[in-house]
Amino acid sequence: MAIERTLSIIKPDAVAKNVIGQIYSRFETAGLKIVAARMVQLSRAEAEGFYAVHSARPFFNDLVTFMISGPVMVSALEGDNAVLAHRDLMGATDPKKAEKGTIRADFADSIDANAVHGSDAVEAAAIEIAYFFPALSVYSR
Ligand code: PPS
Repeated sequence: MAIERTLSIIKPDAVAKNVIGQIYSRFETAGLKIVAARMVQLSRAEAEGFYAVHSARPFFNDLVTFMISGPVMVSALEGDNAVLAHRDLMGATDPKKAEKGTIRADFADSIDANAVHGSDAVEAAAIEIAYFFPALSVYSR
């Protein structure tokens, strides 16, 4: 049976805090398998392309500038309901509103520097996985 995949980005703030391993450990404990990974220094054009869906939002420039402020760790995760499972682990966008024990509650400082990104739907995961891992599809075969 095909298993769902999602895209995870550990953002520059969390990479700088040296917590990639702690965040990966949460994925693994929750049954999400890391099936691809790359540490990347995004260019402005790459970050703008990735976040194109948010280009009309007032924070777009701040978001892009933050995402290119240092390296990010990009991974594809695989598991049952991977998109939702990963979103649950991440917690709310604003760490002040994130539930205790979630990645953002524990590692993020603000809504701008919020430690992690995760695809918000299977359709988005398909696009985002293809953006970074062209050989990988959104379902395992
Ligand atoms: S979500 O997760 O897509 O529903 O969240 P959303 O609120 O729509 O935000 C989309 C992404 O924009 C980031 N964001 C911000 N960045 C900078 N400043 C402000 N004020 C801000 N508000 C939201 C948010 O972290 C989301 O980034 P990703 O990488 O998708 O998590």
